[in-house]
Amino acid sequence: MEVEVRKFEVFRFRPEEEEEPTYHTYEVPCMPEWVVLDALNAIKDDIDPTLSHRWSCRMGVCGSCSMLVNGRPVLTCNAFVKNYEGTIRVEPLSNFPVVRDLVVELDSFMAKLQSVKPWIIRKAEKDLGEGEYLQSPAQLEEFKQYSMCINCCLCYAACPVLASEPDFVGPAAIALAHRYNLDSRDEGNHERYDAIHGHDGVWACSYSNECSQVCPKHVDPSMAINQAKLTGALQWFKLLPKRSFT
Ligand code: SF4
Ligand code: SF4
Ligand code: FES
Repeated sequence: MEVEVRKFEVFRFRPEEEEEPTYHTYEVPCMPEWVVLDALNAIKDDIDPTLSHRWSCRMGVCGSCSMLVNGRPVLTCNAFVKNYEGTIRVEPLSNFPVVRDLVVELDSFMAKLQSVKPWIIRKAEKDLGEGEYLQSPAQLEEFKQYSMCINCCLCYAACPVLASEPDFVGPAAIALAHRYNLDSRDEGNHERYDAIHGHDGVWACSYSNECSQVCPKHVDPSMAINQAKLTGALQWFKLLPKRSFT
């Protein structure tokens, strides 16, 4: 198969040593089926071992290879080089601090996930001998879409609100909270209420929909946010109970 030399303009930055980021251009011999992650690995292996980037599964599952390619948040293991013309610019995810080069700090995202208590909450667990918490296919379907998130953070990089309001809980965390609130086995709606409907929750969202457009797993977080807004409003006017409010 024919190798084609392609140019990659790659963001480089060591915050502890440099005041400003720079862009380095690399000429990379690419195979026709390569994705952008293959080219970054080739740079690291054969051209410049000082480049730092993050990846793991190479199959769109782990969510760790997220970057901006020509300004758009993508999984680089799913971004085919042949689909881009000319020089390809690779940058770290926006809306996150850079640790080094293409690697960003995700602590704020992890804290936001934690804040919505993304696990099944029960008022009281039944004894193991009483069996499983059964769920019908229809009940599963209620939340399944929102459980497909791989925590890739592409939606956070795309969100215009996060650029100006970094404390906004954000699309993936709200979608995950909504997933548990919709789960027939869960009784923790009231424990997530403040995180979702407080100052930095759903009402900060301007419904610009970029999060859903970049999501590689079709989670549709903007839909989750809109549904959560409606549920919260109905609960506020006491037209809908907070499930198992204690
Ligand atoms: S719909 Fe809301 S959460 Fe999604 S990108 Fe737009 S402002 Fe951000
Ligand atoms: S909602 Fe989609 S874009 Fe956002 S973190 Fe989850 S998988 Fe990634
Ligand atoms: S390397 Fe795992 S999603 Fe890309």
